[in-house]
Formats: sequence, C-alpha cells, structure tokens
Amino acid sequence: VNLQSHNTLGLACQASRVVDLVDLDQLPAISQIAQQGQQWIVLGGASNVVLPAQLDRPVLRVALRGIKLIAEEADAWIVEAAAGENWHEFVLHCLQQGWPGLENLALIPGSVGAAPVQNIGAYGVELDTRIESVRAWHVLDGCFVTLSAQACSFAYRDSVFKHSAAGTWVIVSVQFRLPKPWIATTHYPDLARHPFVSNLSSEELNASRVFEAVCQIRQTKLPDPKVLGNVGSFFKNPVVSAERFASLRQAFPDVVAYPQDDGQVKLAAAWLIDRAGWKGQRRGCAGVHDRQALVLINEGGASADDILGLAAAVIASVEDRYGVQLEIEPTVVL
Ligand code: EPU
Repeated sequence: VNLQSHNTLGLACQASRVVDLVDLDQLPAISQIAQQGQQWIVLGGASNVVLPAQLDRPVLRVALRGIKLIAEEADAWIVEAAAGENWHEFVLHCLQQGWPGLENLALIPGSVGAAPVQNIGAYGVELDTRIESVRAWHVLDGCFVTLSAQACSFAYRDSVFKHSAAGTWVIVSVQFRLPKPWIATTHYPDLARHPFVSNLSSEELNASRVFEAVCQIRQTKLPDPKVLGNVGSFFKNPVVSAERFASLRQAFPDVVAYPQDDGQVKLAAAWLIDRAGWKGQRRGCAGVHDRQALVLINEGGASADDILGLAAAVIASVEDRYGVQLEIEPTVVL
C-alpha cells in the first residue's frame, strides 16, 4: 500500500501491511502480532509524522468513530470522542452542540487520538487544559488503560505517549473536560487584534466568533496540506534561560519571545529561522514556507531524506547564528 495520500507531508511510503482499526475487537489480534516481535506503527491523521520510503513494519490506521456527551456537570461538559474522529470536525461538532472550549484549536489537521500525543496547542490554549483522561490499549500487555490527564505527563508539545517506544499504545478515545461557564481565551497577539475579537464587546463575543477568527488566521498563514504537503510547525519553539535570553536580545533587539511562568523564555523559532534567511528557500522538492518559516513543505516528490536534510541545515544555521538548538516537532519514523 502506498501511503502518499495518507500523510499530510505527502511523502511516498510503500507499506507492506496496513490494517484499519474500526472495531475494538481487533485489538487482541494486533497484540498477538506485536508479541511475535512485530512493532506496529500507529497512525491517526498522519499529520505530524515523517514517513520513510519503505515501511516493513505493520501499520495500524486508527479509524474508530463516535462522539458522546458523558455528563453535564455544574462546572463542565464531559465529552468523549473516539480516536479516529477528525479533529477539526470534532471541534465544530462540539460548538454546534453547545459545548464550547476547543475553538482556539480549530483547523489543526489530524485526528482526536493523535491530539494528546503531541499535546496540540494554538492561540493560547494547550489541549492538556481540556483533557479529562485518555483511554488506550497497551499493545504488549494486551489490556485497556485509562490515563488521567496527570498520568499523561503533558508538557509543551509533549506527553508520555511521545516517550514510549513506537507501537506501545493505541489511543482509542479521549475524554474532554470543557469548562463552564465558557470564557474566551483571546490574549494571543494574532487573535487579540483580529476584528472579530477587537471590535466586539465581551458580551457579544462568543465561541463561534473565536472559532471563525482562528480559522481565518490559520488560513492566511499556514499552507493547506491538501494543496501543499506539510506537518504544521516542523520545529518546537525553543525555551531558554532568562540570562541566555538577555544576551540574545542584546545581539538581536527585535527577537520575538514569550516569557514562561517559570522564568524561562520561549523563543519564536519562526523568527529565528526567518531572520537567518531561510524563509522561502528551497532544496530540491523540500522548502521553507514563504509565509511561515516554521513550516517545511513538500513541493511534490520530496523524500524523508530531502525534508530531514533541509531540517538539519536549518538547525545548523540557527545554532551557528544564535547558539540555540532547535528540536524537530513531528515524529520521525525510520
Ligand atoms: N514570525 C516570523 N517569521 C515567520 C513567521 C512568524 O518572524 O515566517 C514571527 C511572527 O511575527 C511572530 C512569531 O514569529 O511574532 C510567532 O509566530 P506565530 O504567532 O505565527 O506562531 P508560532 O510561534 O510560529 C506557534 C505554534 C503553532 C500555533 C501558533 C499559534 C509551535 C511550534 N507552533 O507558532 O502550532 O498554531 O503558535 O498559537 O509551538 C504546530 O504545532 O504545528 C503549530 C502550527
């Protein structure tokens, strides 16, 4: 099976075996194969993964569906969604049902089950602030485990799932805790200056408006993976000490940075890459997007090596210029 149309970077990937998980009853057989020594590659929307040209390990595509309201509590809606639901459609469905709280995360490509893995975040909301628990199948033990939000060890674009060996977990569903009453989160600069937000009083502002604003902002900045292969941000925004930041700012007074609660400072990797001259640069079929320097693109026909070669050159150049080490954000399957 060629997975080229099943990964948003659009890399050609010949997989010898692909299984679609549509029913939980399939999981014991998946475990049996793993116990015989075969390591599964688990894919959701495949929007945050770099795939190799040839994949001899078996691939499990999670296609479980279903969304339900579990409980309406005094201070929250508890909503459960199966891992195979499309993330953006789920966000929209929640809004339509009157369960707001995920609107800042609109239009993020991928599936519900993949969202906790890298703890997706955008426009001032990180997913972990909305998660109640994650239910997953432990492949080698052959049993279901419900992980509380705390047990998931969420951090910036990070979770316990990113640190477990590939194929350890199959996330099957996620429970969300959407706080009541709804409170808008609009402090993120791009969102705060959007006309839907800046022109409306706080009584007029509602979750649908925030949703529309986020969709508009993303559409102007980020390439649509259906048109141009990409995995969103290819690098994490690096976090440095306050001292380190002070000396960087002396050398680069307009460096863009966000102070963190713990005194450290998160740097805008896009700014570092952009000012190092990479925006719009091409290396063969791989390139740095011309509107958002954090995004690497496949112009058609790029391989994982092309993309990773370009990433390595960007990392080396940023290290050389600023002394800051960038980290790759998507999962690289070798
Ligand atoms: N900037 C540049 N050049 C560029 C792009 C941006 O100088 O080419 C500057 C901007 O002027 C801005 C700063 O860099 O001051 C930050 O840019 P932006 O606000 O667009 O967001 P970001 O830090 O680049 C992060 C997330 C995105 C998320 C947005 C919005 C990471 C790695 N990226 O990007 O997440 O959508 O904030 O919250 O944390 C993703 O993870 O895949 C992703 C897209």
